[in-house]
Amino acid sequence: MARVIVMDLSRHNTVLVGHDRYFVLHTEGRSLLVLDRCPHRGGPLSLARRTPDGRRLSCPWHGTKVGVAAVKRTSLPMVRSGDEAVVVLPDGDGGEPVSVIRKEVLANLPPGAPCAAGGTDGEAAGAGEAASR
Ligand code: FES
Repeated sequence: MARVIVMDLSRHNTVLVGHDRYFVLHTEGRSLLVLDRCPHRGGPLSLARRTPDGRRLSCPWHGTKVGVAAVKRTSLPMVRSGDEAVVVLPDGDGGEPVSVIRKEVLANLPPGAPCAAGGTDGEAAGAGEAASR
């Protein structure tokens, strides 16, 4: 049975489902909830920087360039209305804990943009419980 959560995108940009993490990627005017895992060895694509052409993410661990199109294919079904997003979680055993957090996401910065001052990579700024339906 599919599980559904509701996210407030003004407060949260990341969903933890068991050992998997998904982050909100903004691309081509859309917001997608994509898997935060580099296909090379699992690095955090949320902390990747865009290549100068904006079409790939450069993984912070070993520099593999991952196409945004490939990252988009990992997205979960999500319907957005304003700041509210309804997300269908992947089928699992149903017992994985689910939480929503806000963390630094560099993958949404334009190519060459500096990091936010004082930000620390991967730091969770707040955790919350996902509202399940
Ligand atoms: S884990 Fe991403 S380049 Fe190695």
